[in-house]
Amino acid sequence: MKKKTLEDLNVAGKKVLVRVDFNVPIIDGVISDDNRIVQALATINYLTDEKAKVILLSHLGRIKKEEDIAKNSLEVVAKRLEELLEKKVNFIPYTRGPELEKAINEMKESEIVMLQNTRYEDLDGKKESKNNPELGAYWASLGDMFVNDAFGTAHRSHASNVGIASCLESAAGYLMEKELKYFGDTVDNPQKPFVAILGGAKVSDKIGVIENLLKKADKILIGGGMAYTFMKALGHNIGTSICEDDKLDLATSILENANDKIILPVDVVVTKEFREDAPFRVTNYKGMKDNEMGLDIGPKTIKLFKKELKGAKTVVWNGPMGVFEFENFATGTKNICETLANLKDARTIIGGGDSAAAAIQMGYREKFTHISTGGGASLEFLEGKELPGVVSLDDLEDGACGAGCDCGH
Ligand code: 3PG
Repeated sequence: MKKKTLEDLNVAGKKVLVRVDFNVPIIDGVISDDNRIVQALATINYLTDEKAKVILLSHLGRIKKEEDIAKNSLEVVAKRLEELLEKKVNFIPYTRGPELEKAINEMKESEIVMLQNTRYEDLDGKKESKNNPELGAYWASLGDMFVNDAFGTAHRSHASNVGIASCLESAAGYLMEKELKYFGDTVDNPQKPFVAILGGAKVSDKIGVIENLLKKADKILIGGGMAYTFMKALGHNIGTSICEDDKLDLATSILENANDKIILPVDVVVTKEFREDAPFRVTNYKGMKDNEMGLDIGPKTIKLFKKELKGAKTVVWNGPMGVFEFENFATGTKNICETLANLKDARTIIGGGDSAAAAIQMGYREKFTHISTGGGASLEFLEGKELPGVVSLDDLEDGACGAGCDCGH
């Protein structure tokens, strides 16, 4: 079902609540990757250009105890947003109450107010994360309409996305629309050959993705920590490499049903210690010793993966090929980045999380068709699941008052 998008709303002079995902990494008070903020600018700029009053809501981190409060304030994010927009952002350090309501009631057209972290409401009974109806209705009461641009949170059913959407006319923002277009169209109607590259530590995180992509992709190249569970399932010695022993039977059955679509590493970079400057060597997949762990794919695997990628028209990549944070074990991930960046006439999509961080960190931000802002959300999308944050938005044929309204507008 097609969803309403930003331009289906009549926003001039209206108070528009906008859910963004500004859950960005912050180290010692400094934002280390502002991609999610950068990607939200198009929607915010459109709304201020169209004379809306823009009220931003986001979560940051997880709030389980009192100590989580101070370190997860959105104030630093509001400052960064202000720099990027070159516009005042009125940050209100509350999630509800008279000060917030006064600030919103005094807003003029094109002004921006940002609330404190929506998950502060989790401290008292997980109101945000459990989609408490009173909280969703309260936030909805602060605005006239709702735009959800938080693709990264779309796999959650929380008060600040699903809760608000169920009370107001609602639409997808530009970033949400872009994410749905790239994942939806690309994965559902891929131009062939379609190659998926999966990495990261755990098979368990990617089971649903593998099962769904086996139906659609021509090949699935597997690297990263998850490859070792498959190698062990095939009977190889993987030394002390990361492995999910309780998933060995599952790995065997996935391989049996894969019709040779799955390609595993043929060589690996091994070391005895998990540290940046540990001595390392390259060995073929049968040559790992009991006291060695694999931390990257080897040169023959890189060559093999490059061969499989040659001529691909659609590539989806999720998960690094090794411990790319350590220079000595970043070669596989770098080579995949470079190969994808140089593919001709191909749609290249990176599902968020670590592989997106790796591509951006390695300087390839502009070289892909799309780098998703969603980690868990992009995985669930690749699994073929419906995302509650999207489902809850108005369908294009809904009236001005939104889904379920029968007032006749
Ligand atoms: C993410 O970073 O994947 C999203 O912001 C969702 O965060 P969460 O996993 O804490 O719900």
